[in-house]
Amino acid sequence: MHNDLESILIAKEAIAAKVAELGQQISADYEGEELLAICVLKGAIIFTADLLRQLTVDVSLDSISISSYGHSTRSSGVVRFLKDLDESVEGRHLLVIEDIIDTGLTLKYLTENLWSRKPKSLKICTLLDKPSRRQVDLKPDYVGFNIPDRFVVGYGLDYAERYRQLPDVGILRPEVYGE
Ligand code: IMP
Repeated sequence: MHNDLESILIAKEAIAAKVAELGQQISADYEGEELLAICVLKGAIIFTADLLRQLTVDVSLDSISISSYGHSTRSSGVVRFLKDLDESVEGRHLLVIEDIIDTGLTLKYLTENLWSRKPKSLKICTLLDKPSRRQVDLKPDYVGFNIPDRFVVGYGLDYAERYRQLPDVGILRPEVYGE
């Protein structure tokens, strides 16, 4: 285990099993349809890469980047587009793939923006959810794990751009981010 972690919250084997389960569920729900998966950069990169390989339906991939916390561990509520989608989403089935939902502010803003572009449907798939922290009405359609209100890193999730490469999801020691 990395020295900056307090403990492992979700081990890589459990993540892999859950990703396979989500892949089956999503493939069944979209059978016969074409899907546009939207990876929310950068945290969802690793989850998206693994999830896509579990899908049996036709899927295209696009990505979007919006600002979240900068170097802090709390949401500012200020959301900025850093990179927009490459493709038009009008009339398409969208699956927004996110690493974690905390307050929900980021995804609320993003999904409202995507709905204004007239997709046929829009669902949200998140690996992790902290439902106790929610500040807006936002319910993901597919959730890997509900987790407590602790700051986690690994499997794509970062603190100040570090720890994304760790294979497990772990709880970061609070002294690392100065609390
Ligand atoms: P929200 O707008 O508060 O829902 O924030 C969502 C974004 O905050 C996620 O996409 C992550 O980038 C980041 N975030 C929230 N909680 C954590 C965490 O525990 N570890 C790492 N990033 C987090």
